[in-house]
Amino acid sequence: MSVEITKVKYYPELRRIAAIADEIWHECYGELLGQGQVDYMVEKFQSIDAMTEQIEFQNYNYLSVCENGKLCGYIGIKPEDCDRLFLSKFYLHKEYRGRGIATAMMNYIFDEARKIGKKRVYLTVNKHNDHAIDVYKKIGFAAVDTVVTDIGGGYVMDDFIMEYQIKE
Ligand SMILES: CC(C)(COP(=O)(O)OP(=O)(O)OC[C@H]1O[C@@H](n2cnc3c(N)ncnc32)[C@H](O)[C@@H]1OP(=O)(O)O)[C@@H](O)C(=O)NCCC(=O)NCCS
Repeated sequence: MSVEITKVKYYPELRRIAAIADEIWHECYGELLGQGQVDYMVEKFQSIDAMTEQIEFQNYNYLSVCENGKLCGYIGIKPEDCDRLFLSKFYLHKEYRGRGIATAMMNYIFDEARKIGKKRVYLTVNKHNDHAIDVYKKIGFAAVDTVVTDIGGGYVMDDFIMEYQIKE
């Protein structure tokens, strides 16, 4: 397995991330949230316009994850002013799950956090996303709180907040 994780800098890469995000989000959230909410969330958070805005004005970085040169997933991170790094997006295409790529992705994120002096990585995860929660726990995250976020359109996100303490 050869996994390459690289910062997304150019529009064509962002376009590929938007396409794979659309596919992954419909596959993983369709049953959990319903198609209407997934369509709404993809447009609001993962369209090219939305991601461009996040990168330009909200301090987000997107990273593409490739195996043997093929895009198989992506990461979104946002360093915060305090000692925390927000892991906003952590997604792998279904065909590539269960083979060690998620752990490689997370180790990359922890290295990035260390490089910029962050002590904690946190994320939000849907309370019913059992597999992702199991993966995060296995990696060493712990649930520290819950949050219900009104995302407009009559929809909410009902999440756990999970946190990982960076080891030196
Ligand atoms: C979340 C996601 C990136 C994880 O990737 P994955 O390939 O499914 O993860 P893996 O199966 O490689 O599991 C990662 C680690 O957790 C462990 N793990 C997996 N399922 C587990 C379980 N039920 N209990 C305990 N440990 C488990 C694995 O053994 C592995 O540890 P290892 O590398 O030390 O062996 C992927 O499932 C995904 O993209 N899901 C859909 C999108 C999503 O929900 N993203 C998260 C949004 S918050």
